[in-house]
Amino acid sequence: MSELNIAVLGAGIVGLTTAFELKTKFRNANINVISDKFNEDTTSYVAAGLFRPGSSFSGPTEELTRKWIKDSYNYWDDLRNTSEGNKAGVTQISGYIFSSQYPNIVRNNYLEKLVPLYRKVTEEELTLCPGEWKYGCFFTTLLTQSTEYLPWITLKLQTAGVNFFTSTIDSFTDINKKYDVIVNCTGLGAKFLCNDNKLVPMRGQVLKVDAPWIKTFFYGDYDTYIIPGFNCVTLGGCRQYDSYDLRINKYDGLSIKERCESLVPSLKGAKLISEKVGLRPHRDPVRVEKDIKTINDRKIKIVHNYGHGGYGVTTAPGTSLYAVDLVTEILSGGSKL
Ligand SMILES: Cc1cc2nc3c(=O)[nH]c(=O)nc-3n(C[C@H](O)[C@H](O)[C@H](O)COP(=O)(O)OP(=O)(O)OC[C@H]3O[C@@H](n4cnc5c(N)ncnc54)[C@H](O)[C@@H]3O)c2cc1C
Ligand SMILES: *[C@@H]1O[C@H](CO)[C@@H](O)[C@H](O)[C@H]1NC(C)=O
Ligand SMILES: *[C@@H]1O[C@H](CO)[C@@H](O)[C@H](O)[C@H]1NC(C)=O
Repeated sequence: MSELNIAVLGAGIVGLTTAFELKTKFRNANINVISDKFNEDTTSYVAAGLFRPGSSFSGPTEELTRKWIKDSYNYWDDLRNTSEGNKAGVTQISGYIFSSQYPNIVRNNYLEKLVPLYRKVTEEELTLCPGEWKYGCFFTTLLTQSTEYLPWITLKLQTAGVNFFTSTIDSFTDINKKYDVIVNCTGLGAKFLCNDNKLVPMRGQVLKVDAPWIKTFFYGDYDTYIIPGFNCVTLGGCRQYDSYDLRINKYDGLSIKERCESLVPSLKGAKLISEKVGLRPHRDPVRVEKDIKTINDRKIKIVHNYGHGGYGVTTAPGTSLYAVDLVTEILSGGSKL
């Protein structure tokens, strides 16, 4: 039997996690990660990485969405609970979410059934942060910091014999004929060259500050969040629909700083490390699907895995596991879609 050749397009958290799960399933396959950007040049690198699926994250069915989230949680929690958890950038973290607006904002249908602790705050806790807070919850979840995870998983993959290539794939003819299947994890990727109109950039800006005294995360109204990580605290944020502006916006930065400092005043002493912008690849639903394209009489088997929006760190493992199942099906089932 000839060797199985698989190409994974994209080296963000979705591409690399997919490559890892493919290598676990198809030990002897020749797996190749092809991407134009890596590590600090990906959207994944900007994320705070809190495990908190929002209500705008959605697969094709409620059942599948839940499965992806649950499988993801188990993947991160298993990794956290190993001697490599720290190196991989995974940890457990707790914190508060407050709202002065609606009780539902502080609830999370997906998380409440999954995490070890999710409770309403007490009256006293409502006064922990300045502001007219009416509703609040305290919960324990996980955090995966891509600045640690991406290099860690890259090394794992290289050690396991996965090849890495730097290349921009602008059309199907760019892709070498030898591949039995191509897994498309390009995020926002070729959106502007191709035509998936459901894929929309949701612009986000964050400040990374040095504030090691912050040990819990805080969410307030209107996209205000403070999330401590391994070597910095991420302050956010904003969610600008259909904006592809990758430049740092001075006014967004000032607004984030003001909102975060008013939620947690001790941040006024924090030194700015960096300011970052990322475009979340939003799609409803997230696309994890089989696809067969005929180009010049040649059938190309593709499995798509993109469109994770603001929740790609959270849900990369579950959607990747599902993509690996689709790879198995597309390889064995011929053209049945
Ligand atoms: C400010 C901000 C905060 C966030 N916070 C969180 C959070 O707390 N929790 C959470 O779960 N998520 C968070 N996210 C969302 C998360 O970052 C994304 O969902 C996730 O990074 C998407 O991963 P990806 O691998 O699909 O995309 P990317 O990281 O963008 O990777 C795409 C890869 O494909 C490659 N590529 C694209 N097109 C081509 C092409 N034509 N040819 C070759 N290669 C190509 C790119 O070079 C890149 O390597 C946040 C996002 C932002 C912007
Ligand atoms: C963590 O790992 C230990 C053994 O290494 C195991 O006994 C324990 O059940 C694990 N805990 C979780 C939450 O997975
Ligand atoms: C991969 O997905 C992008 C959307 O991100 C799409 O534009 C592109 O055509 C896809 N590439 C392949 C090889 O299927």
